Amino acid sequence: MEKTMILAWILILSTAMAVARCQDFYSHAGPYVPPPQKVTYLYFFLHDTMSGNNPSAVPIVSPNITTSTGFGGVIAFDDPLTVGPDITSEVIGNAQGLWVSTGKDVLTLMAYLDIGFTKGEFNGSSISVFSRNPITESERELAVVGGKGKFRMAKGLISADLTFLPVLCGVLERHIMQFG
Ligand SMILES: *[C@@H]1O[C@H](CO)[C@@H](O)[C@H](O)[C@H]1NC(C)=O
Ligand SMILES: *[C@@H]1O[C@H](CO)[C@@H](O)[C@H](O)[C@H]1NC(C)=O
Repeated sequence: MEKTMILAWILILSTAMAVARCQDFYSHAGPYVPPPQKVTYLYFFLHDTMSGNNPSAVPIVSPNITTSTGFGGVIAFDDPLTVGPDITSEVIGNAQGLWVSTGKDVLTLMAYLDIGFTKGEFNGSSISVFSRNPITESERELAVVGGKGKFRMAKGLISADLTFLPVLCGVLERHIMQFG
């Protein structure tokens, strides 16, 4: 009898919680308990192909003025990620997003992209990048501002040169990755 009552109580509790979620547009504010910090180093190559019969990146917006930097142009892409510099090496995911030419004087491709993995431990997880990308500089960093799945709340940096840079700053989970 007691067992039945406990079960009923739990059921009511969870029903109440479910109803509360539907009725209110906010929950009670409680203390935030951060999960333990983790560091993941990723190393892969991104292939952005604009030419040929099967491009992975296409211009979708062209400005009505012509500048040396292509200022105002927008390119949509779905680029494969591979383990090696050769495009025929194993594909481990894809990066989808936009490059936006945002530099009036110096060529800059603002990067808005989601880097998703389709293999291994991080299959189904992705990383969100929001950063300016001064592509004329040989060493540059892109900011990782978040992520999904195992990369939830990720913070980190992409080093877009060919030197491994273990320089990190982050909040919850920290990730550094590199592509060339
Ligand atoms: C580009 O488009 C804007 C908005 O329609 C217009 O005001 C401007 O004159 C155009 N510039 C050129 C060079 O055609
Ligand atoms: C990745 O996850 C998807 C969806 O869960 C699944 O269909 C696929 O088989 C997985 N691939 C690998 C290589 O684990």
